Amino acid sequence: MSLRTAVLLSGTGSNFQAILGQAACGNLEIEVVAALSDRPGAQGLQRARDAGIPAAALPPSEYQDRRSWWEAFAGRLRSFSPQVLALAGFMRILPASLCDEYRGRALNIHPSLLPGYPGLNTYRRVLEAGEAWHGATVHFVTRDLDSGPLVAQARLRVTARDDEASLKARVQACEHVLYPRVLQWMADGRLEMVGSRAALDGRELLKPIVFEEKELL
Ligand code: GAR
Repeated sequence: MSLRTAVLLSGTGSNFQAILGQAACGNLEIEVVAALSDRPGAQGLQRARDAGIPAAALPPSEYQDRRSWWEAFAGRLRSFSPQVLALAGFMRILPASLCDEYRGRALNIHPSLLPGYPGLNTYRRVLEAGEAWHGATVHFVTRDLDSGPLVAQARLRVTARDDEASLKARVQACEHVLYPRVLQWMADGRLEMVGSRAALDGRELLKPIVFEEKELL
């Protein structure tokens, strides 16, 4: 049975598109039941509409305060009865109540090798620091921003030729393979959260499963 999955996004939605692509060709056994955004202009919403998937934008500016916005957002989300949430470039910090409601059922993808470089502008910061490695991480969403249990990472070596644009392109190409793969682990019932750790096939992950760029592309 396909896992009912809601995707939360704020921008381009290239990860969302990759998820849809893998689901469409039968490699990913999830049913994307909705795409929700805080930004009406998010390109990802148009991708959802093009695919015949319910898409909704709830801009915070249309609500009295953050609290009422999040209540509306959570209510809309619930109306689709998702089993799983996939945050794919959703640039808002989920409130504690929502983190708790979907504990062990919400995943996020972040463009860094967490716990290194949480937050924004990871490409610039990694280049400025002269790091040898960069990548992306899929992790469970908890109350701690970008610090929920780590599941899997895509890792690539930063080259002397890389600038922000090339690094982003390389990381995102990896993300597009990594995220559907991890979601399929969820669909297969192989991935869960046990206490404060991710577990794959019943075994707690002491560190994330790492895929090298060349293994993914
Ligand atoms: C992705 O690269 C994702 O890792 C990042 O936003 C991008 C969204 O791209 N997420 C974060 O920075 C979350 N902290 P997309 O809209 O094209 O999928």
